[in-house]
Amino acid sequence: MNSRAPSRSDAYDVALIGLSARALARSARRAGLRALALDLFADADTSEHAAKAVRVAPARQGPGLDGRALTAALAAHAPEGLPVVLGPGFEHAPRLMTRIAERNPLIGATPETVRLLKDPIRFAALLAAVGAPHPELVAAAGDQVLSKRRGGSGGAHIRAAEGLPRRGRYFQRRVDGRSVSALFVCDGREAQIIGFSEQWTDPTPAAPFRYGGAVGPIALDAVLARKVAAALSRIVAATGLVGLASADLLLPDDQLTFWLLEINPRPGATLDVFDRAPAPALLGLHLSACRGLPPEPPPRFTRAQAAGVLYAEAPTSVASLRRPVWTADWPACEEIVPAGAPVCTVLAAGASPSAARALFFERRAALLASLRAASRPARGQLTMVFG
Ligand SMILES: Nc1ncnc2c1ncn2[C@@H]1O[C@H](COP(=O)(O)OP(=O)(O)O)[C@@H](O)[C@H]1O
Ligand SMILES: [Mg+2]
Repeated sequence: MNSRAPSRSDAYDVALIGLSARALARSARRAGLRALALDLFADADTSEHAAKAVRVAPARQGPGLDGRALTAALAAHAPEGLPVVLGPGFEHAPRLMTRIAERNPLIGATPETVRLLKDPIRFAALLAAVGAPHPELVAAAGDQVLSKRRGGSGGAHIRAAEGLPRRGRYFQRRVDGRSVSALFVCDGREAQIIGFSEQWTDPTPAAPFRYGGAVGPIALDAVLARKVAAALSRIVAATGLVGLASADLLLPDDQLTFWLLEINPRPGATLDVFDRAPAPALLGLHLSACRGLPPEPPPRFTRAQAAGVLYAEAPTSVASLRRPVWTADWPACEEIVPAGAPVCTVLAAGASPSAARALFFERRAALLASLRAASRPARGQLTMVFG
């Protein structure tokens, strides 16, 4: 069909769907692509980067977007055939991926690949087959055993195991090591690593492994980096994975070995760390990797970038808060962010990973202080309450 009637499809090059589509929308803009963004927030930053941002209701149960609301939003805003790139929020929902793909082709991991990678037993068997070390799955709680949700993300679902796994959960042996993530592109045959980042947690008593943030690129021992890359290529070849993805690792002190915790089969949290000069727009890289790996070697970054989440400690009204330029993902002014939910993303660059990380924590502390001040009733209000 070479004569195509003008349609609304001409308004967008791609639809981006995720819990938050902001980082993908920013990347689309860097790539010169007009994006339709669908996510839980449609916040100001996303609207600024995308041609249009549409808010989709959260799932009534569990994480992610409500499937019906999402397909209705796609039918209303995305022309049939408009390609879709998925961000975080579909790891547990391959059926919803299939439903989306019936109308709008998915550019990235197939539902079958996601199903395989997110099934703890099949994933452990795959890693054993390709010789990638993975913490052992265990049937019952014990010392040094963690309980994780199948298809979970963001770390808040991980806790010490008790008794037997509940429905939708599995138990895994706890291992020691530094939390590092490898961002890579792949074409169904091999993986090319873009960079490694170091991650940290922002623990609460109920969520000791809640995701805090990441800084990168970090230097890894060259031999170890090659071992990780080779293991990732074997996983890619065995699963047919395509596009941008990341591998979460724990690196023991010996600098010789690694534990591979999971593969995130989609662009994820470290876009904020790596989607910047001298790297090309990573969404562009994702799209081209889905057709075959780009021949260029990975970018050489000269500075480090940290990015992480600021969580509300108490219900927080954000209306009166200053929004520094080194933040992103703020909710709409009228919103009250519930305790434990993300308030915004904090960004910090530096000459080295430790400098970027230090600046991140300085900025995070300053924002937390202003959040605490904003959530305390003002003196005048106190007098009114008690006077
Ligand atoms: N088996 C494990 N042993 C020790 N720490 C773990 C283990 N599994 C997860 N963690 C901790 O939780 C973090 C998130 O783990 P991950 O498997 O990537 O879960 P998620 O899918 O929520 O990102 C890791 O970076 C690490 O700090
Ligand atoms: Mg992870």
